[in-house]
Amino acid sequence: MGNLSIPPLAELRKRRSAKWRTFPDDVLPLPVAEMDFPLAEPVARALHEAVDRSDTGYAAPTRDLADAVSAYARRAWDWRIDADDVRTVADVGIGIVETLRRVVGAGDRVVISPPVYEPFSWWVREVGAHVVEAPLAGGPLGWRLDLDALERAFAGHATAYVLCNPHNPVGLVHRREDLVALAELADRYGVYVLSDEIHAPLVLPGAEFVPFLSVSDEARRWGFSFLSASKGWNLAGLKAATVITAGPVPKRHVDRLSPHSLYRTGHLGVLATVAAFNHGDQWLAEVLDVLDRNRRLLDELLAKLLPGVHYGQPQAGFLAWIDFRALGWGGDPAEHILAAARVALNAGHRYGDAGIGFARLNFGCSPQTLTEAVTRIAAAR
Ligand SMILES: Cc1ncc(COP(=O)(O)O)c(C=O)c1O
Repeated sequence: MGNLSIPPLAELRKRRSAKWRTFPDDVLPLPVAEMDFPLAEPVARALHEAVDRSDTGYAAPTRDLADAVSAYARRAWDWRIDADDVRTVADVGIGIVETLRRVVGAGDRVVISPPVYEPFSWWVREVGAHVVEAPLAGGPLGWRLDLDALERAFAGHATAYVLCNPHNPVGLVHRREDLVALAELADRYGVYVLSDEIHAPLVLPGAEFVPFLSVSDEARRWGFSFLSASKGWNLAGLKAATVITAGPVPKRHVDRLSPHSLYRTGHLGVLATVAAFNHGDQWLAEVLDVLDRNRRLLDELLAKLLPGVHYGQPQAGFLAWIDFRALGWGGDPAEHILAAARVALNAGHRYGDAGIGFARLNFGCSPQTLTEAVTRIAAAR
């Protein structure tokens, strides 16, 4: 299983983060998108050294983060980013909300594609805009952007689209041709595309991440990318992310974000993110190896212990989108599973109506934990 030594549950339960403090100790917590792996050594070292220096002040106005993101994007995806086009923000959610504040007005329409990461609709509402849904096409055996639905939504006077690339919770890595077509639609109807690329470092073997801004001039004319190390290297609590542009109009909007956004970013987050992007490749490769095995193990466990349940192996990340409808557990199987199996999953209906009868499971854990979770769920039938 590579060199990662995943702490046993008794150790993990000592963590003070949301995943480990939300539920009582008899519950196996597989909802919150945190991974159970130990920190990458270069990241841990950067953080220990900062603490040893009592270096816990504000993030410094340097190019370190922009340079690290650019170098990583070039190495990982052959994507050329100009470090001058990278802006530091506290997290992806704040980056998207603040960018939406620049490009949409109260009452404007913003499109999302459910089932999608639950906060997307909150972020749109937070800026006073209306959510318009253009659901993904397909199902557990193959999801895709629905370009016809997107065209209808864009033609209905939409101002912006929040793209999830890769797409949480279904683990879809969008195809280049779909992104090219999306960019053409954005250009035709004058719609900004905010591409949440937080899961990009976690693309698994067999899929290729295509950064939205890399696909065409139209994409660069209308697009923003939001990238951070917080999912890939498990740094969500440290608060550092980036907004990237590649065209003059999006850049002008980002330049008008609050000049204080840097000071709202975690200094330790910047240090850890720079270490992750510059020195975290080896650790990430080991994590991807575990995740690749776990997505297959989950397939095997479900087929053996819970026949009738549908799940398509994700192309990216550590989240599995599982269709429990055949078991007759109603619209919210996560509720039954928590009560009867003492396993916490995310309720699928929170990702949009397309998620009724589904639940999201986090397999960024040991194979033992994953096996225990599915065994408990199967016993609750
Ligand atoms: C698609 C997506 N975007 C954003 C976030 C949250 O990122 P942040 O903590 O940087 O706001 C998550 C967290 O799981 C996510 O899955």
